[in-house]
Amino acid sequence: MTMKGKFIVFEGIDGSGKSSHARILAERMQREGVAVYRTAEPTDGPIGTLLRRYLKGELRADERAIATLFLADRLDHISAPGGLEETLLAGVNVVCDRYLYSSVAYNCASEGVDWVAELNRTAHHRLRPDLVVYLDLPVGVMEQRLQNRNFKEIYETVAYQTRVRERYLEAFDLFGDNVAMIDCNRAKAEVAEDVWHAVQRVLAQ
Ligand code: TYD
Repeated sequence: MTMKGKFIVFEGIDGSGKSSHARILAERMQREGVAVYRTAEPTDGPIGTLLRRYLKGELRADERAIATLFLADRLDHISAPGGLEETLLAGVNVVCDRYLYSSVAYNCASEGVDWVAELNRTAHHRLRPDLVVYLDLPVGVMEQRLQNRNFKEIYETVAYQTRVRERYLEAFDLFGDNVAMIDCNRAKAEVAEDVWHAVQRVLAQ
């Protein structure tokens, strides 16, 4: 399927600022008259809602079941009526906060990276990003940023986030997608400018 819109994904460890940068980018695209739809995973649909309960520690479940639910949420995000495929086919660009690289980075405790990556091939085959913006943050800075937040989801510890970062890098190798690695330990405006340049190159293709 040839998509008319571009699919732009933001990834990064918790506290990297990817949600703000996804918002800043979408606002800039709007100002420039570029059609954009901003979304996130886990979604706010039924499966995503269940996953958020798990993330808050309200539910316990097997890691493999959780990895599979993240894929289910993703496939629904892609293919449901009014979902990503339809949006992109209509020529609207999509900015998505997290995609399958997050699954490789966070959901491989039981079975390892290869299993989660393989599981997510279906989603990758259906919808491959035109650009992955990875907001890279040194571990020490990450620790400070996490301390400033007022709630903790189960994955927000420094040791965990260090492994998450390593797995992200493995995921990028495995899927071979177009990744812009952006150092986000700088002023927000500078980071936003780098993001914008990377996106402009993709929009011009
Ligand atoms: P998010 O809502 O992006 O939280 P934050 O703004 O704090 O980064 O993501 C919530 C959590 O979901 C995050 O800790 C990572 C986790 N997650 C997975 O474990 N697997 C996935 O496939 C996705 C998309 C997210």
